[in-house]
Amino acid sequence: MTTMTQDELKRLAARAALRYLDGARIVGVGTGSTVKHFIDALAERKDRIDGTVSSSEQSTRQLAAHGIRVLDLNEVDAIPVYVDGADECDGRKCLIKGGGGALTREKVIAAVATKFVCIIDPAKRVDVLGRFPLPIEVIPMARRYVSREIVRRGGNPVWREHLVTDNGNAILDVHGWQIADPVAMERDLNQIAGVVTVGLFAQRPADVVLIGDREM
Ligand code: 5RP
Repeated sequence: MTTMTQDELKRLAARAALRYLDGARIVGVGTGSTVKHFIDALAERKDRIDGTVSSSEQSTRQLAAHGIRVLDLNEVDAIPVYVDGADECDGRKCLIKGGGGALTREKVIAAVATKFVCIIDPAKRVDVLGRFPLPIEVIPMARRYVSREIVRRGGNPVWREHLVTDNGNAILDVHGWQIADPVAMERDLNQIAGVVTVGLFAQRPADVVLIGDREM
């Protein structure tokens, strides 16, 4: 038996997501190496959709290179399905996202989407979120204040120094948290002044998680 590489498993999940489009004419598109495979797969059936809403400049470039129309979110009333990857996923389909720095637009699209299909490789499935450092997007002037608030909550924030998000903000990656109650933590962190987006997708988790080509 041959063992698949992590990239092959990502590609498998990405292609499996096509089965969940259910005739959607508008598709929300996430960001990352798994989503790159999804965009390539979507290109093969681009004539069956009216357009996409993209979560990052990176995905927008790849979609445009395939000749797939990218719409501004303000131009659409609904997104029937949104396909995106994740950095971690627990048993309730709560996620850590933002490893690629696109968490804010991703969270907005997830909020609008009727169905959120998350595509991951098996290494991302965990019992308790937090081994992957939790990304938090903050406005630049609040970076040190938010860091102190995180330390007060037992986390160890590390500034992703060389990254400016598509929204002109900074990212703190928080190490050292075992996130047993992701809904409560998301709610709490959202209250800190200067926080733009917390990379916990728990209040709005995924609806479908594909691990390779298997639905969780
Ligand atoms: C980007 C994300 C990605 O979905 C997440 O980082 C997973 O990426 P990859 O598919 O490359 O493992 O949240 O902000």
